[in-house]
Amino acid sequence: MSKTVLVTGGAGFIGSNLIRWILSNRDWRVVNLDALTYAGNLANLRDVESDQRYRFVHGRIEDAALVHAVLEEHRIEGIIHCAAESHVDRSIAAAAPFIETNVRGTLVLLEAARQHGIERFIHVSTDEVYGTLGPDDPPFTEESPLAPNSPYAASKAGADCLVRAFVHTYGLPAIITRCSNNYGPYQFPEKLIPLAIANALDEQPIPIYGDGRQVRDWIYVTDHCRGLVAAYEHGRIGQTYNFGGRSERRNIDVVRAILRLLGRPDSLIEYVADRPGHDRRYAIDCSKAERELAWRPCVTFEDGLAETIAWYQNNRAWVDAVRSGEYRRYYEQQYGSRHRTVAR
Ligand code: NAD
Ligand code: DAU
Repeated sequence: MSKTVLVTGGAGFIGSNLIRWILSNRDWRVVNLDALTYAGNLANLRDVESDQRYRFVHGRIEDAALVHAVLEEHRIEGIIHCAAESHVDRSIAAAAPFIETNVRGTLVLLEAARQHGIERFIHVSTDEVYGTLGPDDPPFTEESPLAPNSPYAASKAGADCLVRAFVHTYGLPAIITRCSNNYGPYQFPEKLIPLAIANALDEQPIPIYGDGRQVRDWIYVTDHCRGLVAAYEHGRIGQTYNFGGRSERRNIDVVRAILRLLGRPDSLIEYVADRPGHDRRYAIDCSKAERELAWRPCVTFEDGLAETIAWYQNNRAWVDAVRSGEYRRYYEQQYGSRHRTVAR
């Protein structure tokens, strides 16, 4: 019989791409537990919502009674934990929701996973827990010390420490993954690449923080999704695996490439005040995942960016609905504003 996994945060960017990838490539059943915050959008899953192997449950991961009910009712065997407050700028404006979801929510899931004898718990973390690099520093490895610089990164590092403690203390079969910057279809247009594409399409200014020479290591989202499933299937319990795209790019070069591909002028670039505490450079050494998980990033940045731009060009209605808030009206009609279990 095929296994049933719980994906938390499955209505977000990575979670929705992960659910689509699993349903296409494995015979697993998937339950998606998502609070439908501003970042959660059921339109991201419209093409799979009638799949018999897929179920959606509306609710928060901090709701212990709901989490227990979901694990029991759906006989969940494994968890891939994507749910999070994920945007650095929002964490700088208000840190508390990041502690609530990323730290307290993760604790609730860990306790429930322990009590229900879950076979695997994949904790989806980030390279931001390692802090920042200088221009000539070697990339982060799994041995790099934790040095989070934003409230978001601190909340993810806190969650990582809880996962580690649950493995060490209770023998929970958990694995931590730390990935670099993802891009691809269905990414909320507050993050650099979808924001730049959406603004360029509308001929609106594109804000560049500071001098624009900060470096990120970009990975196409399906490469990350394959890595998460590889960690579930082949990862060693208690280990951490880095995922990256081996595609370091300066922000300004990313935005210029987008403008070039869309035939828009560089004059749309608008230099604005820098992000407080802005990390200068991230780079990931993912050789451990390549060695142990038989995984590697397959999509080049050039191919992935062209695909992503094409997706946003062909899905203007999705962007318009997100920007107008229309997507929220859809689910408020369906699910109301209160959190409750919905098994469909
Ligand atoms: P996202 O913001 O697009 O989606 C987050 C999802 O979690 C949304 O659907 C939201 O509704 C849901 N959610 C938020 N709070 C919740 C709660 N309390 N209970 C239940 N659901 C809740 O995020 P993303 O970019 O898809 O990131 C997914 C995960 O991957 C996060 O853990 C993030 O830290 C990690 N990550 C992201 C990146 C990246 O580049 N986007 C890179 C590395 C790691
Ligand atoms: O590294 C992994 C992380 O990548 C994930 O853990 C986070 O969830 C995800 O949000 C992302 O964090 P970043 O802060 O790196 O991503 P963001 O898209 O917000 O910004 C990318 C870079 O672009 C960063 O250096 C800030 C800059 N930037 C961003 C925005 C939104 C701009 O210059 N202008 C902008 O308008």
